[in-house]
Amino acid sequence: MSEVAATVRHMTRAIFHTATTLDGYLATDDDSLDWLFAVPGADEAEAAFAGFLADVGALVMGSATYEWMLRHEGLFDAPEKWAGYYGTRPTFVFSSRALPRVPGADIRHVEGGVREHIDEIRDAAGAGDVWIVGGGDLAGQFADAGLLDEIRVSIAPVTLGSGKPLLPRVLGADRLTLVDARTAGQFVELVYSVS
Ligand SMILES: NC(=O)c1ccc[n+]([C@@H]2O[C@H](COP(=O)([O-])OP(=O)(O)OC[C@H]3O[C@@H](n4cnc5c(N)ncnc54)[C@H](OP(=O)(O)O)[C@@H]3O)[C@@H](O)[C@H]2O)c1
Repeated sequence: MSEVAATVRHMTRAIFHTATTLDGYLATDDDSLDWLFAVPGADEAEAAFAGFLADVGALVMGSATYEWMLRHEGLFDAPEKWAGYYGTRPTFVFSSRALPRVPGADIRHVEGGVREHIDEIRDAAGAGDVWIVGGGDLAGQFADAGLLDEIRVSIAPVTLGSGKPLLPRVLGADRLTLVDARTAGQFVELVYSVS
């Protein structure tokens, strides 16, 4: 492999990877994901996700996503569940509030512009990618700053009519290029590069 190819392969990318409804919502208005867990036969989608996670070095999420994890997974009673999902990967939680940390997990509180924190986030990711877990506005903040490299959406056969938006931004075809499309059980996974 040439030196250039090796550099490209190991360049840290910021990837917004999420499940979404067909009508573009990440969660209901009251932060429920019950619609997602109700989709039958999620095994194939989970296998594809495991392959994605293997290349992730650090996670980024907003406070609503983090607090959903705390509540839904009961992480104060069973903090070891965090490592079961994410291993020891550093996780950057954007919030203007001081949030409780999951015991034993590498949770790093950040706030303000994403540009201020991108060097620290990339350093923490090492040779891996940065997974922007959500929500949509935080992914939008990365796009606004020109720091979002890829969007991977796994579309569930569900509509909600309203809820927490997938990506509340205007990104035209001049910025998004479809690079992959595949099915995984009842899900369709679309991968776009962002310029
Ligand atoms: N379908 C899926 O696979 C999937 C994936 C991810 C998330 N979700 C769900 O979707 C919902 C997303 O919620 P959401 O849209 O409200 O997004 P979110 O990004 O999880 O949380 C938004 C909050 O994060 C904080 N924040 C964001 N940017 C910040 C910044 N630059 N500096 C400081 N604080 C910042 C703010 O709250 P404070 O300052 O008040 O803390 C903001 O209100 C959650 O229910 C989550 O569980 C679903």
